[in-house]
Amino acid sequence: MAARQLLPLCWRATLTPVVSTASRARVCARPSAWVCHNFRVTLIYYPLNPNTPALSGGSLWVASRAPAFSRVLGRISCRAAAASSGQHGIRHYYQSTRGAGEPQHHLHIVDLRSDTLSTPSAEMRNAMGRAEVGDDVYGEDPTVNEFQQQVAKILGTEDALFVTSGTMGNLVSVMCHCRNRGEELLVGDQAHLYLYEQGGVAQIAGVSPRLVTNLSNGQLDLEELESKIQKEYPDPHYARTRLICLENTHNRTGGRILPLSHLREVRLLADRYGLAVHLDGARLINAAVALGVAPAEIVQYCDSVSLCLTKGLGAPVGAVIGGRREFIKECLRARKVLGGGMRQAGILAAAGLLALSQAEDTCRADHHRAKKFATGVQQLASPVCSVDLPSVETNMVMLVVNEPRICPQEFCERMWDVSEAEILELGRGVKVRMFVMYKRTVRLVWYRNISEEDTEMALNKLKFVVQQYSAELGIV
Ligand SMILES: Cc1ncc(COP(=O)(O)O)c(C=O)c1O
Repeated sequence: MAARQLLPLCWRATLTPVVSTASRARVCARPSAWVCHNFRVTLIYYPLNPNTPALSGGSLWVASRAPAFSRVLGRISCRAAAASSGQHGIRHYYQSTRGAGEPQHHLHIVDLRSDTLSTPSAEMRNAMGRAEVGDDVYGEDPTVNEFQQQVAKILGTEDALFVTSGTMGNLVSVMCHCRNRGEELLVGDQAHLYLYEQGGVAQIAGVSPRLVTNLSNGQLDLEELESKIQKEYPDPHYARTRLICLENTHNRTGGRILPLSHLREVRLLADRYGLAVHLDGARLINAAVALGVAPAEIVQYCDSVSLCLTKGLGAPVGAVIGGRREFIKECLRARKVLGGGMRQAGILAAAGLLALSQAEDTCRADHHRAKKFATGVQQLASPVCSVDLPSVETNMVMLVVNEPRICPQEFCERMWDVSEAEILELGRGVKVRMFVMYKRTVRLVWYRNISEEDTEMALNKLKFVVQQYSAELGIV
């Protein structure tokens, strides 16, 4: 069967691969690329000899009688990468660099796009399997109850509530702080709650968000924050400011930590105007570990906090809200109306319990590896890309692609692609996934599944890509 017959119809490319007989050496694969219908299609071939190292997993096996494929069992890896410049800008939040259904058996993958990619350990799965459960909507799941008590202790709050996700934790908290029509919250213009939660606070809670500038370290501009509080209320022209929302660590600015002094100042301001403070603490434990304080020391400045289990902590599902007993009672009602009554949720809470008991060590290791990688990039001292080392405070690294001739998206693609040259030079193919955060900034995030060795391999890959660019662009 000819290769083109096996390709999806929308890719009407005429495939004219070159199979080199000279490549009968150790590596026989030869990638070729075509541009068609705005997609670049990359094919990587595999010879019949099973001892030959494969370059890539693929989505399709092709047994061809066509002359060009003679005696070649070609495994085709079709990766559709947007070639039009419009799609080469900022990547959509969850866009993947992987071809659909493309298994990667022979190459090492280091996926640094997000700590949400963390997967539960075998120990966690065992704990989930053993978990005692009951109907949590009746308040009868013993594991959930134990988990909530534990969390309340860690957060230093009167009570805690298990919810499905960080997004639900934030939304439920906002719903319970802002209970009347015409209320408003103040939030950073780079906050996850504002940018990446579908405007849920407006859409569902009916609360309008008023934006305050997030500084490059994730903190709020305090002068601006005060100026945005509606002081004219109850003048009927104005909404009533009810709530200030903070984020710690701050995702968009690269896992930056809000210093305790900043939290204290926000608290004082909130008290002066009778406002509540909610903390999006999706990565609160990262902040606490990096600051060397107990999580409760951070939370003491807030009326409520939401903490995610699924990021650096590595549990598969869930988040938790901490706050005063009466507040959590209201949250329970809000969670239910949003469909968050989870019945035998002890299976999930069991993973959360274990994740929390290991959180400090996990986060510390992640921070160390992120710093190690960033230090390696800094030591390269390359005009191609750089990191601001002091701003690497937790598990994220923001890599800036400084060379204007290099598109950050393309840089990411090169970190993902594997060439013969790479295998020859590094001894194996490593595919690194990264995430273009904005314009020229690429985000890399460490989590439980990313080992020392992965970190080293990712750094070596980056060095290789930088070298390649330097040679191609004449950068010395
Ligand atoms: C700072 C922050 N808050 C909230 C969330 C939302 O968490 P979830 O994905 O569990 O809804 C995220 C997710 O990445 C986050 O980074």
